Amino acid sequence: MEEFDKAQLTYSHQGLNLSLTPIKYIIEQYPTPFYLYSQKILEKNYLEFYNKAIENNLKAMVCFAVKSNNNKHLLKSLAKLGAGADIVSGGELKAALKAGLPAEKIVFSGVGKTKDEILLGLKEDIKSFNVESVEELELINKLAKKLNATAKVAFRLNPKVHAKTHKHISTGYKTHKFGILADDILKTVNDKQYWSHTKLVGLSVHIGSQLTDLDATKEAIINACECANKLPHPLEFIDVGGGLGVNYSPNTHAPTIDTYMKLVAEAVSHYKKEVEVVFEPGRRIAASCGFFVTSVIRSKMSEDCRFLIVDGGMNDFVRPSLYDAYHEVLAGHDNGDLIETDIVGPICETADCFATKRQLPILKYKDFVVIADTGAYGHTMSSTYNMRSQPIEIFLTNKGKLKV
Ligand code: LLP
Repeated sequence: MEEFDKAQLTYSHQGLNLSLTPIKYIIEQYPTPFYLYSQKILEKNYLEFYNKAIENNLKAMVCFAVKSNNNKHLLKSLAKLGAGADIVSGGELKAALKAGLPAEKIVFSGVGKTKDEILLGLKEDIKSFNVESVEELELINKLAKKLNATAKVAFRLNPKVHAKTHKHISTGYKTHKFGILADDILKTVNDKQYWSHTKLVGLSVHIGSQLTDLDATKEAIINACECANKLPHPLEFIDVGGGLGVNYSPNTHAPTIDTYMKLVAEAVSHYKKEVEVVFEPGRRIAASCGFFVTSVIRSKMSEDCRFLIVDGGMNDFVRPSLYDAYHEVLAGHDNGDLIETDIVGPICETADCFATKRQLPILKYKDFVVIADTGAYGHTMSSTYNMRSQPIEIFLTNKGKLKV
């Protein structure tokens, strides 16, 4: 194992400086396709995020968005570093608790929480139900009464802003199903029928994902603060959601975490009272720690189009098919000239394509390629389409151990 320790996975995005030795070693033991996560990169990302919040004088709680990656080893690592969780289902709540993410640091988002999910959250006494409709609040109050409990709730504000991102992952305008408009929050807060067994502790906003332009984020947080200033009681926290983008390609320019934290600190200062700031990042913590590793089945030419057919498919990793997402593709072997290549999977859809027109060396059967930055919304969105197995996940610890 000593040799392997020395060859710890290192990765720098722009230089594509991925040390492939460990992957070669792992491939001998596990069949492709698989996801490989680096604890080192994960922890670096989390600590940078948390520490920058503290440096910018925020009383911060970082609740990792479990929907982006629910791998048990990854969640355990984050729990050890003091993270909380942003969850959207009973399944995620159970996974978070099992990994040691404590209930008092768990916020529960989502427009369709069911009765059973709410009961589970009440039983565990989570930090907050981030309520997305008046009907949901009514149900939480009713269920809490039955249990003779008090539910802590935060309104999710729909701030009516336009986030500049893919339309499938933009969530902050009135035409989107998320959150409650400010006027409705202010009406509901004064209506006693909803508050016998609920306590309003926070206000949250989340306007979208893979955000690289933060103007709408700032506007949304300021809208939340203005709404909070009109509430009859001080809040314990303002939850600014997740959404900070990552540099999937050299042409993407996501803000630095420091820039983001400065913007959040400025925006949150519009709330007139001292308040904790809750963050719900997923992608910025998990994306760059993950590598999707897939092997070549064969290649083919179609006049001047060259296809590299790999054993991973859109069921394993769907972001390119669903959002036209760009991910770097790294060849496991470098044997000379580069040639323009489309990297495609075996599934019977033209959408089953990871990348087009990439300069790659000529690869042959069993050579592998790595799709980078796949630690967020990779495995969690995988399926069994075409009756395929879901890919395994391998967690590479700081000590060079592999945990499956
Ligand atoms: N909080 C809430 C309420 C959310 O809905 C989300 C993501 C997050 C936090 C975390 O956002 P992040 O920091 O990861 O951007 N499958 C899509 C992304 C969907 C995001 C859904 N909500 C993708 O692969 O791009």
